[in-house]
Amino acid sequence: MEIYPVKGTHDLYDEEANLYRSVEAHCIFLANLFNYQEIRTPIIEHTNLFVRGVGESSDIVNKEMYTFFDKGDRSITLRPELTAGIMRSIVTNKLYATNDLPLKYYYLGPCFRYERPQAGRYRQFSQFGVEAIGAPTYLQDAEVISLGYRILYMLGIQNVKVYINSLGDEESRKNYREALKKYFAKHIDKMCADCKRRYEVNPLRILDCKVEEDQQIIKNAPKMSDYLSTEAKMYLNNVVSLLKEIDIEVIQDDNLVRGLDYYTGVVFEYHVDKVEGLDNVGALGGGGHYANLLKEIGGPDLEGVGLAFGIERLAYVYSHTTKESFKYGPDLYVMGMSQEIIDKNFSLCELLRSNGFVVETNYEVRSMKSLLKTAVRKNAKFALIIGEDEVLKGQVTVKNLKSQEQTSIKLDDMVRVLTTMINEYRADEAQEGEF
Ligand code: HAM
Repeated sequence: MEIYPVKGTHDLYDEEANLYRSVEAHCIFLANLFNYQEIRTPIIEHTNLFVRGVGESSDIVNKEMYTFFDKGDRSITLRPELTAGIMRSIVTNKLYATNDLPLKYYYLGPCFRYERPQAGRYRQFSQFGVEAIGAPTYLQDAEVISLGYRILYMLGIQNVKVYINSLGDEESRKNYREALKKYFAKHIDKMCADCKRRYEVNPLRILDCKVEEDQQIIKNAPKMSDYLSTEAKMYLNNVVSLLKEIDIEVIQDDNLVRGLDYYTGVVFEYHVDKVEGLDNVGALGGGGHYANLLKEIGGPDLEGVGLAFGIERLAYVYSHTTKESFKYGPDLYVMGMSQEIIDKNFSLCELLRSNGFVVETNYEVRSMKSLLKTAVRKNAKFALIIGEDEVLKGQVTVKNLKSQEQTSIKLDDMVRVLTTMINEYRADEAQEGEF
């Protein structure tokens, strides 16, 4: 019986795994530039963390969580996102008890949502994100948005659009919710079952609805911007103008409400323009400000702001923009031409690796032609050929597998010469990459 992967999951290997690793390395590099430290939290948490944190009215909690009872009859959930778990960790470990706020953490790891799989949408996916807690200022919001933008820029992703909105303060949201309730009261019986539920729990969530027929009604709903307090408007304007100062143009979008209940104030999303030949994968990332989340899960009254990118979506777009090859191979393919030499090469390979070369070798006697073919298939830079002749002369033959040039080098001098050759090879490759 063949066992299939679970729907909405995917295996990563070879070039694709390298591509993902490269995306993740770019994200971590940028987070380090902004001095974020890594945080790793468990994949499983108690279900009520997400119910309280992400929110009862969100689709995530209502329809998408992988929840089960463990053998101790506790309700456990595979995390649908990481922000709530990080807040829990900050409370558990009293990380807030420091004179040096804001806390600044970055993270990377799998999340699980029971969604309908489609382009860019999986049931297991990975997020990279950051959270900054304890600096309730528009400067922090702007910095987080700029960090996300720099990640996309560094990945060479073009035509990025940053959408921004403000969900306002408590008072603004209360007034807006009432206005929405009044407006939707006239239409709700014609709307989908989810909207009917949202109407009762949190009418703001109706704006997330993707049902085509409901869009017409939603289009004419009251706009958040008409209900924002003067302070909330000023805060948003400050964020927008700070970003403008560093050449990041953002688009103010009244309909951006984000699908998680913990947001207050500024929210944002990163999108790319539709490009020929590229699937529309939705938002590459998004985030926002949350004034009450830490407090709601038992921590002190500290505000936070953060963002998360979907690694799959970044990798998908990046794979179409980058010219880099992700087929990595060894620097050296060491070829022993007899069993005796192959056995001796065991320690030679060790010596080469200890000098920083990426080395692979053959374990069985095969013809020179067949070994060279293997070396090329493995994408090796050089073949290091060692036959009886080489052993007698105390040297090795080095073949550049791209140019096919071949030279002999003395064993005593091998490490020094190979280092130069590899460096020159890399320099040539880097030059070819520039166009
Ligand atoms: P989110 O918008 O739910 O926000 O998810 C962030 C990103 O994760 C999305 O923009 C998307 O790229 C990716 N993503 C979401 N669902 C899927 C899926 N089913 N398959 C593939 N990728 C997906 C959050 O999760 C917030 N925790 C972000 C945040 C951090 N806000 C403040 N701090």
